[in-house]
Amino acid sequence: MRIATIYQPVREDLAEVEKQFKLIVENQRAPFPEFHEMLSHVLVGGKVIRPSLTLLCGKFYNYDLVELLPMATASELLHIATLVHDDAIDHSSVRRFRPTVNKIWGEEKAILLGDYLFAMAGKFAAATGNLRVVKLFAETLRVISRGELKQSFSAFKLEQTFDDYLERISAKTAALFSMAAESGAVLSQAPEESVQILKDYSFNLGIAFQVVDDILDFIGTEEEMGKPGGSDLSQGTLTLPAMLLLKHYPEDNPVKRLFEDRDKRENIAPAIEAVRNSSVIDECYQVASGYRDKGCRNLKLLPDCPGRRSLAELADYIIQRKR
Ligand code: IPE
Ligand code: IPE
Ligand code: MG
Ligand code: MG
Repeated sequence: MRIATIYQPVREDLAEVEKQFKLIVENQRAPFPEFHEMLSHVLVGGKVIRPSLTLLCGKFYNYDLVELLPMATASELLHIATLVHDDAIDHSSVRRFRPTVNKIWGEEKAILLGDYLFAMAGKFAAATGNLRVVKLFAETLRVISRGELKQSFSAFKLEQTFDDYLERISAKTAALFSMAAESGAVLSQAPEESVQILKDYSFNLGIAFQVVDDILDFIGTEEEMGKPGGSDLSQGTLTLPAMLLLKHYPEDNPVKRLFEDRDKRENIAPAIEAVRNSSVIDECYQVASGYRDKGCRNLKLLPDCPGRRSLAELADYIIQRKR
């Protein structure tokens, strides 16, 4: 299923989000040309899953674009801000098929641009005028920052459990998915039970999404993903594929050798090979599919509408995607 087809019920309004981005960019053209260039570089090219979630989850009750549009914009801005910081922290050089901000302008400017985008995201969230949504936004940003710090402190640590992994990806990825959906539901005056169903759907989708991202880091190609593979191991981030490989081969294991001596970079390629040639990838896909199913289990309790079908299809897309 193509993603454009899945987004069909909110296609026109996603174009409005894009217009908001163009405005943010254009406002800096005359007063600050260098900054205009940075903004025009980062505010394009993603899969726009998070703003789509906000809009699609707004489709079940009173769809009001006056509030949903700023929040959908905030969801994507918050996401892009985390990407800009994430790439600066990881010293990554490619994202969305283009050089990263840190690659072009350096890490200091990337951090400052990320801060600006966080602030812009907050401004759009506040423009909803909805206090619950503003609190949710602040809480989500708190959880993501803490999750990223936790990941940083866990780098090159071998003693990590599946629950540690789950906690980490819940914070760094699923929290934002959850926010995108909950805010869309709240802003469309969904009854509380429906808000909870959509929140639960999106949270589980976020977990499945990150598990697949972690799989693709081992089996995907830069041409398909628009970002380099193998980056998690080189950062010392123990993701599910590496974790399962350690579990199956506790003694002679290239991941173990790499984590015990992080300067032994020659262990990265064998570790990737070992994961690819094992049952680990299948197992990870089973885990991801399990979270997809868990997320979708209560969708049928919601009113039947095109948005509902899109959410179910998006869940499948997230498992099958190559990007
Ligand atoms: C990348 O998210 C960051 C993760 C949470 C793994 P996406 O894959 O949704 O990034 P874009 O927005 O499409 O570039
Ligand atoms: C996403 O995780 C982190 C955040 C967006 C906070 P990754 O580190 O796996 O994202 P990619 O793979 O660089 O896109
Ligand atoms: Mg990264
Ligand atoms: Mg990744």
